[in-house]
Amino acid sequence: MIIAAILILLSGGVAFAVVGGGDLTMKNDGGNVVLSHDAHVRSASLQCQECHTKIYLNTKKHATVVMADMEKGKSCGTCHDGTAAFAVKDNCEKCHTQDKAK
Ligand code: HEC
Ligand code: HEC
Ligand code: HEC
Repeated sequence: MIIAAILILLSGGVAFAVVGGGDLTMKNDGGNVVLSHDAHVRSASLQCQECHTKIYLNTKKHATVVMADMEKGKSCGTCHDGTAAFAVKDNCEKCHTQDKAK
């Protein structure tokens, strides 16, 4: 009985828990970007390992990448190439939704 109750609590906890690293704000001169784990893991059905550590990404502080690198397929640009996901070119406002860093 106790184990069953714990299992129910755990599964309920997972359903409401933050997905992966949650929403992460990346400050930059183009207007801050929020990386949503929920949008990528749940909505886009990506596995953790497609980003951690297959791409440069790990769960430590990311190396700063400029847009020119992304257009060549680094960082977000690995997928945001116009095929797997919307391209980094011409879709600035889809990522840069926040006020510019001060
Ligand atoms: C679309 C790519 C992507 C996917 C898929 C993804 N992550 Fe992340 N995750 C990131 C990025 C980008 C960062 C920031 C990394 C950095 O700063 O180096 C990050 C950071 C994290 C962090 C650190 C958060 C912090 O506060 O510093 C954790 C923990 C994490 N991810 C866990 C997960 C887990 C667990 C999954 C699978 C459920 C997952 N991630 C799937 C891109 C992704
Ligand atoms: C897929 C999401 C995404 C799209 C689309 C995108 N950016 Fe970015 N951009 C980022 C992220 C994330 C950073 C911060 C990178 C870091 O911290 O390593 C960044 C950084 C920047 C920077 C500061 C670094 C640099 O390259 O000088 C500028 C300026 C910028 N973006 C402008 C733009 C413009 C203009 C567009 C449209 C042509 C655009 N971005 C489209 C995600 C995106
Ligand atoms: C492993 C592949 C992958 C990587 C890496 C990745 N994305 Fe995505 N992203 C996707 C896919 C797939 C979608 C859903 C399809 C689409 O919107 O084109 C998506 C959707 C999005 C959306 C729209 C989400 C929404 O709420 O509708 C944003 C914003 C976004 N990504 C930003 C980023 C940023 C910023 C980075 C880098 C820090 C990044 N992505 C890295 C695959 C990726």
